[in-house]
Amino acid sequence: MQATIALLPGDGIGPEVVAEGVEVLKAVGERYGHSFSFSEGLIGGCAIDAHGTALPEATIEICRAADAVLLGAVGGPKWDDPKAKVRPEQGLLGIRKTLGLYANLRPVTVTPALASRSPLRPDLVEGVDLLVVRELTGGIYFGDKTCVYIRPDEEQAVDTCVYTTSEIERVVRRACELARTRRGKVTSVDKANVLETSRLWRRVASRVVAEEFPDIQLEHILVDACAMHLLRRPADFDVIVTENMFGDILTDEASMLAGSLGLLPSASLGAGKAGLYEPIHGSAPDIAGKGVANPLATILSVALLLRYSLGLDTEAEAVEKAVYATIDAGILTGDLAPAGQGRSTKEVGAAVLERLG
Ligand code: NAD
Ligand code: IPM
Ligand code: MN
Repeated sequence: MQATIALLPGDGIGPEVVAEGVEVLKAVGERYGHSFSFSEGLIGGCAIDAHGTALPEATIEICRAADAVLLGAVGGPKWDDPKAKVRPEQGLLGIRKTLGLYANLRPVTVTPALASRSPLRPDLVEGVDLLVVRELTGGIYFGDKTCVYIRPDEEQAVDTCVYTTSEIERVVRRACELARTRRGKVTSVDKANVLETSRLWRRVASRVVAEEFPDIQLEHILVDACAMHLLRRPADFDVIVTENMFGDILTDEASMLAGSLGLLPSASLGAGKAGLYEPIHGSAPDIAGKGVANPLATILSVALLLRYSLGLDTEAEAVEKAVYATIDAGILTGDLAPAGQGRSTKEVGAAVLERLG
């Protein structure tokens, strides 16, 4: 097949990990006879430096013209002034919203090799295979925001959390459809004891499942309890569906089941097949430029890209197998390796390529 993939490496370790993802795409192309072409755009801090905006028009056009987008990460101390009018993160939120990517899939899988290295007890995390479906284009991230002086020495900041019925319906449907291909269980996470948006979320989720997915086993949990259950009984979860900010926080937490933020990939999908694929981690300013970032979250995001946007299931599985074989072989960056034994980003990337066959 022929496909165009837009690359948005971004800031910090973004370019380092995207480079390894591109090597894997090239290798898949060669080995399976596909022709992938690449177009590159600026996003985040590097786009602010070049054009004064975190999401230049040219970047949006590159993404719209592509079959899929592979993104690294945005942000960093250089652009962190809380008073700045333009911020790298606006680029990320902007591209998600512009492309209508309302469902963010964040799978967490713990292999035996990872279980033995997890900061949590191996017997707790072994067999974890869960998928968080995070709503990505609504909620408190996108509601009205203000910060004004209400008295000379008193400021007031407001972030508004908004959800509509249809925004909840479509992401719950997506979660249920995915659950049908897995173990048929959906956990909807909210804060319905306090938030109006959560009460709407819970009502809509219950109705969608009752009317359209009677085969799905639905449970509701409050987000604070979910944060605890994720550590106490993580293997019980199949699909978790939740609003934008809860999903953001719970998935950084869930990354510790696998042992590192550097392992978790994501797929952001909308109505069509085109999607955006990115590791869930950020630009990691503390290790940027050192060549030690874990590239596996990005390489696993490439697997999701092959599966969801290009329909190449065999190739996606081959990439995932190569990643897990690399982990099993103990070829790990410093975030997972014993102290002083971490391998470089490039070494780990090369080990995956070798195992790709
Ligand atoms: P972060 O995810 O960048 O880093 C948190 C910790 O995890 C750091 O210690 C980092 O070294 C480590 N880490 C992250 N990815 C790693 C990898 N691949 N390999 C090894 N270690 C890894 O989060 P932060 O420090 O809170 O944020 C830094 C910047 O990144 C901020 O500007 C933030 O807004 C941005 N950010 C961007 C994205 C994104 O682009 N999708 C996501 C999260 C944070
Ligand atoms: C993520 C990040 C982003 C988010 C930030 C950088 C805007 O944390 O992709 O998880 O909160 O969505
Ligand atoms: Mn996050």
